[in-house]
Amino acid sequence: MADQQPSTSPVNYKAVNITSFRGATRDISFDVYLKLSEDNMAHVFSRATGLDYKRLAQYIQKGVTDLFIRAEDEPAYTVFISRTADVVFNDPNTAQEKKVATLLNMTEQNMAELFAQVNISEDTANKSQKVVKNYVDLMINNPKTLTIILKLVSHGEYLYYHSIAVSVFSMFIAKASGQFNQRMLELVGMGGFLHDIGCTQISKEAVCSPNELSPVLWKEMRSHPKLGLKMIENTPTIPDEVRYIVYQHHEEPGGHGYPNGLHAPVIYYPAKIVALADAFSALISKRPFRPAYSVEQAIHILQSESGKHDRELVRVLASIFLKQQGTSKRAA
Ligand SMILES: [Fe+2]
Repeated sequence: MADQQPSTSPVNYKAVNITSFRGATRDISFDVYLKLSEDNMAHVFSRATGLDYKRLAQYIQKGVTDLFIRAEDEPAYTVFISRTADVVFNDPNTAQEKKVATLLNMTEQNMAELFAQVNISEDTANKSQKVVKNYVDLMINNPKTLTIILKLVSHGEYLYYHSIAVSVFSMFIAKASGQFNQRMLELVGMGGFLHDIGCTQISKEAVCSPNELSPVLWKEMRSHPKLGLKMIENTPTIPDEVRYIVYQHHEEPGGHGYPNGLHAPVIYYPAKIVALADAFSALISKRPFRPAYSVEQAIHILQSESGKHDRELVRVLASIFLKQQGTSKRAA
């Protein structure tokens, strides 16, 4: 439980953005507080025990934007935020082990945020976390695939977190569809994780533009499935199933997708799953140009779009998350 400071405490606090705690490490060399009211601070994370990702995710989900530190701890906090994931991954002097440890921390933390957001059962959350950890472990232990993941994370926080979310949602949908064995579920998860890997080869402007893309940027954006395929096609640890997913995740059943405008019968089924998970994840994420949609709004939007997604899979998605919103939580 959080310790509450006496309301007459003479301590000076400084507000810090809650998102600054994403990434690098669980260890903190300062204490962190949550403002309960104007004169009441709760001591929520201590230097002795470090950050608790689950609780941090719950605060973010509840709309908390600022946490507080003691004013005298500002130098320690400055050092802490100077070691964000972006800095760690882009610094050529950072040891590979440190990069790997940071990557695993980010993955774990992001999954905690994700599960707080969609209100998934503890059991489902634990199982998904295990599967994701398995294939992330598998990839980071291979120098070539580690390079690929580091590229993904270095291209921006959103892209990496989105990849984790798409991976997890793809596995939920695949599992609930009842059509896959465990190995295939994991491949769908890996496909979801790597689906946008080609985005690391195009400009950040095209990936993260807050505006509608210009024709030039749009052309660049449409090239990412092919670029992604190229990046992984000679990597023995990445199976063909994953390559099909990466290459086809923007195809649409109605034939208006890219890169090949394929129609429903010839689109690889797991690629349809990842395409849906991709759209769902994007809708429930806050973007520079709009706030996040709720899970219900996102599903409603997906249900109303014709020819973009497999109808049966949209029904499966709704059955997972609309049930999750109710009283009975279901383990995927
Ligand atoms: Fe994509």
